[in-house]
Amino acid sequence: MANRRLLMAVLLQSLFGCQAAPRFSNGFLYHDIFNNNGNGEISFSGVQLHVESEQTSVFTSRGANATLPCHYWYQPALSAPRRTRVKWSWQPAGGGHEMDVLVAIGNRQRTFGGFRERVHLRQMSAGDVSLVILGLHLNDTGRFRCEVIDGLEDERVTIDLGLRGVVFPYQPHHGRYQLSFSKAQEACEEQGAVLATFDQLYTAWEEGLDWCNAGWLADGTVQYPITLPRVPCGGLGLAPGVRSYGARHRHLHRYDVFCFSSSLKGEVYYLPHPHRLNFTEAIHACQDDGAHIAKVGQLYAAWKFTGMDRCDSGWLADGSVRYPITYPRLNCGPLVPGVRSFGFPAPRHKHGVYCYRAEQASTCL
Ligand SMILES: *[C@@H]1O[C@H](CO)[C@@H](O)[C@H](O)[C@H]1NC(C)=O
Ligand SMILES: *[C@@H]1O[C@H](CO)[C@@H](O)[C@H](O)[C@H]1NC(C)=O
Ligand SMILES: *[C@@H]1O[C@H](CO)[C@@H](O)[C@H](O)[C@H]1NC(C)=O
Repeated sequence: MANRRLLMAVLLQSLFGCQAAPRFSNGFLYHDIFNNNGNGEISFSGVQLHVESEQTSVFTSRGANATLPCHYWYQPALSAPRRTRVKWSWQPAGGGHEMDVLVAIGNRQRTFGGFRERVHLRQMSAGDVSLVILGLHLNDTGRFRCEVIDGLEDERVTIDLGLRGVVFPYQPHHGRYQLSFSKAQEACEEQGAVLATFDQLYTAWEEGLDWCNAGWLADGTVQYPITLPRVPCGGLGLAPGVRSYGARHRHLHRYDVFCFSSSLKGEVYYLPHPHRLNFTEAIHACQDDGAHIAKVGQLYAAWKFTGMDRCDSGWLADGSVRYPITYPRLNCGPLVPGVRSFGFPAPRHKHGVYCYRAEQASTCL
């Protein structure tokens, strides 16, 4: 009982201490107290642990190094260092289980999963437990949690990591509504991309994406973005927006897909060539130029991030024929910027070709 009274004292004191809490601190969570294993940490009462991040979100690009800020301190300041445990975990943007990223006790650090070789704590000053992630992947986005645990106290903040990118609808060569969820994932990967998240599709819709075919998103829902309501796309009665069919059956149901690609290291270019090429010739022509035939996601990234503009139809790796327009003009498709598609012509047809050359020693694709 004495124990319990002491705990209440800690709790009350902390609740009042909370008022001065900085904006992005999440306040105090005391569930550990009530699961207390009686390890004698009670003497710690009266000291508050603060954990804070100066940013609630970090927005950067593929291949970059990201720093997710997080630091902690004690109030009043402690004279002797304490054995504090720091844990970073990650909730993928597309949903899925929360995963450990890094755990540190004193100077010992352990890292996990796909982040194993790529993360460390910044430790620039006392209490700096900012997470540094090297060489961001397209699928590293999501919500990161920085948690500091000191005996009884357990404080945390979350930081969202997003990537600048481009969302594009994708339909495979065998036509509309052919992809199960796992085939949709594969289709995006084959185009140098990943399944888009809802937030990414929503941003693309705000930027004007309008697409009348429903596609899978990373969370297993099926949605489509409409900026201009019209009869064949749900009718005139519905407001513009991202329309959702909700979660669909991942094996039984088939749709198109929305993929997400980000900026590239390397270059996409239209291959200068004396004559036009069939599909097999196009593949070889890029190889002869020390490059590869470009993927759909690479062409979209070049269009979005380098303003690529070329009014010549060209083969891409999936056997589709497209071209990127940044400055709309006559005879180059509709009067809005975009990547135009001719679908999947017969491989013997003659077109130009878009190639992709990775920067030397690039590890980003
Ligand atoms: C990321 O950090 C590593 C190691 O500190 C460095 O070698 C690399 O150049 C950095 N990359 C970028 C894109 O800044
Ligand atoms: C995330 O992307 C990296 C690099 O593109 C890949 O190696 C890894 O398998 C992907 N992870 C998941 C969970 O898809
Ligand atoms: C493309 O042309 C080459 C001859 O240059 C021919 O051997 C090849 O079969 C053609 N490929 C297709 C898919 O038509």
